[in-house]
Amino acid sequence: MAGRPESLDSNVYCIADLIEFCNKKVSRTTSEYIAGGAMDMITVAENCASFDRYRLVPRVMKDVRHVDPSSKCWGSQTSMPLGFSPTGLHGVAHPHRELGVSRAAAKVGVPMCLSSWANSSIEDVVTQGDGSGIPYAMQLSVVEDPDANLYTIRKAEAAGAKALWITCDLPILGRRLNEYKNQFSIPEGLTVPNLPPDVDFRASSQDSRMGYDRGMTWEKVNWFKSHTRMQVWLKGIMHPEDALLAIDAGADGIIVSNHGGRQLDGIPSTLEALPGVVRAVNGRVPVHFDGGIRRGTDIFKALALGADFCFVGRIALWGLGYNGEDGVRLALQLLYDEFLATMTMVGVNSVEEIGPQHVARVLSDGSLISLADKSRPVSKL
Ligand SMILES: Cc1cc2nc3c(=O)[nH]c(=O)nc-3n(C[C@H](O)[C@H](O)[C@H](O)COP(=O)(O)O)c2cc1C
Repeated sequence: MAGRPESLDSNVYCIADLIEFCNKKVSRTTSEYIAGGAMDMITVAENCASFDRYRLVPRVMKDVRHVDPSSKCWGSQTSMPLGFSPTGLHGVAHPHRELGVSRAAAKVGVPMCLSSWANSSIEDVVTQGDGSGIPYAMQLSVVEDPDANLYTIRKAEAAGAKALWITCDLPILGRRLNEYKNQFSIPEGLTVPNLPPDVDFRASSQDSRMGYDRGMTWEKVNWFKSHTRMQVWLKGIMHPEDALLAIDAGADGIIVSNHGGRQLDGIPSTLEALPGVVRAVNGRVPVHFDGGIRRGTDIFKALALGADFCFVGRIALWGLGYNGEDGVRLALQLLYDEFLATMTMVGVNSVEEIGPQHVARVLSDGSLISLADKSRPVSKL
């Protein structure tokens, strides 16, 4: 068909297809581990549904011969404003685990943050991207024992990770009902090599090197800042006042995230939380975003609402489950193509140009209100 780019795969044409075909290949326990969240999963659903409460506002005749979707993350150039948020246990989805995700990210030119509950070591993950120039970060689920935290930090520094993501919304594990019902556990043969080697990660006992630190406060951010040369980013910021406290605490950046709806159910979607945080931060530190992104238009909408960069979590696992490294690469290529097509048809040539003028909010009566000028309905622009 004239003008239609070649298909990348004979089954999967978008992330919704990827989910469907991944689920045909992996066990129910695995598919529910990936898609699941806390309790009734209201927040899981809202993270995606919120994107549909915005419409794109395109402009035509904008000379879009040279649209450039490239961006920057942690000081490095990336092919688009999208990367991988940390998701634990990639080994349950495919034997390529985090190494395959890293190779796919490197091939498409996007950054990757590794979970402290990864099944691959940060050194091996970073090595897969050698020569690509993509940046890596290490996520830390903070535990009570400072030496155990330092173990992960030192490994990440030695591997060349640029940023440390401290997960702030994890004083305890969220109540994920699927994991209870399926008696989900780390399969035999998989290890968690970024935790100290003598930690029994299969035990549920309160080992202070593994038990989450419920005593986390803003003051402790300073301790992390003074114990690493990596940038320190705080993940899980949803409240504008917490964003201000994060800046006061010295965060190099924040990630608006609700852990993909896996922690406290019934809280707002990240897209709903984003504008308030962006307003409070007012450009003092970068604001990154994750939660519910499944399409190129979703990336565009999050940027239009003020995010500087976007991340996806589950898509790495769905890609692996469908077809290992190639499945992850396919997912990234689809999102790249969709995002580029969105920029082109909305009529913007660079990521910096994307702003509130490009989205309108759907009100409860179905009418649209411009975000650039809230007093004006789109019909009166
Ligand atoms: C299976 C799974 C495991 C996750 N593991 C971690 C983790 O180890 N540390 C962390 O900070 N966030 C973790 N997250 C949350 C992600 O980093 C991210 O915030 C979330 O997945 C974004 O939503 P999305 O999946 O809709 O893109 C996990 C999410 C999923 C789905």
